[in-house]
Amino acid sequence: MARKYDFDCEVFENSSTLSKEVQNLIQLAKEQLDMAYAPYSKFLVGASLLLTNGNIYKGCNQENASYPLCLCAERVALFSMGAVEKDFEIKALVITASNPAKPLQVVCMPCGACRQVIQEFEQRQGKPITVYLTSENNEIVKIEGISSILPSSFSIQHLI
Ligand code: THU
Repeated sequence: MARKYDFDCEVFENSSTLSKEVQNLIQLAKEQLDMAYAPYSKFLVGASLLLTNGNIYKGCNQENASYPLCLCAERVALFSMGAVEKDFEIKALVITASNPAKPLQVVCMPCGACRQVIQEFEQRQGKPITVYLTSENNEIVKIEGISSILPSSFSIQHLI
């Protein structure tokens, strides 16, 4: 039985019914787990995103001995894309995680800071982003737009 979540989402028990495109993106995000630099938390996070122009960007968490400087996987992927693409449209974003010390039984939710950053990318492209969350239990949670997990958020509208 698929797990229940307290926000709008679609839950898949595995990736078999998802498009090949999304399956590939999930695979790439999982491969990023091996690249994570997480000597302090030992919590590995991988991310991948696909643009409508076909380009793919990837990221993984990057930690630092000065703990507050650690950067999350999804922000690494989003900012690397933002650094090289001017007019982008993100078709899908995948976030996955692995805790080697205690395999995850739930999908990894993006932290609040990353939700805020994803929201700004939605504003920039003028469209919601489809986010897929996965972890070691193979379950996939699909979210159509970050507002379902970041309601009433602070955004550019408050500044103008
Ligand atoms: N982490 C991410 O990469 N993404 C998230 O959304 C949650 C947390 C990373 C940051 C840190 O390297 C480790 O997970 C433990 O918090």
